[in-house]
Amino acid sequence: MGKILSQKFYDRMNKLEPRYPDKVALLLPALHAAQEEFGWLPPEVMEEVGAFIGIHPAQVREVASFYTMYNLKPVGKYHLKICTNVACCLRGADELVHHVEKKYGIRCGETTPDRKLTLNEEECLGACGTAPAMMLNDDYHENLTAEGLDKILERLE
Ligand code: FES
Repeated sequence: MGKILSQKFYDRMNKLEPRYPDKVALLLPALHAAQEEFGWLPPEVMEEVGAFIGIHPAQVREVASFYTMYNLKPVGKYHLKICTNVACCLRGADELVHHVEKKYGIRCGETTPDRKLTLNEEECLGACGTAPAMMLNDDYHENLTAEGLDKILERLE
C-alpha cells in the first residue's frame, strides 16, 4: 500500500521521536498531525499511523475513539463541539444542542448535507466557571445562550 500521509508528517514525527520515551508514546501526536492533514482520521490513515508506530490498526482505532478530539468521521468546514458535562448541562447545554439540531436539521454527531457544519457533544472544556461552553473549530466560546449562539452561527460563511 502506498503512503497516504505526507512527507511533512514523517519529517515532523522523525523530529519529535527523540523527545519521546518510545515510539508508542508518539501515537497521540501522530494522530493529531494526521488529522491536521485530512480533517479526520480515515481507516487507511489510522492503518498507516499504526504501521509507522509499530502497532495494530485496531489499537490505533481504540485510542482514537477514546479521545473526543479525534474525528472518526469526516467533519464539516465548521465543527461545533458543545460541552455537555455537568457544569454546562446545569446551565442549559442540552438546550443548546437541541437548538442547533433543530436549526440545521441534524442530530448530534452528524454533518449538514452541504458539509458546512458538524455538531458534536464534548467532554469538559475546562471552562466550567463560564459554562455553558463550546468550541467552534479551534476557538472557545463561553457563557453561551441560544441567542448568542445564533449570532456566532450567523457569522459563519
Ligand atoms: S463542564 Fe463544560 S466546560 Fe467544564
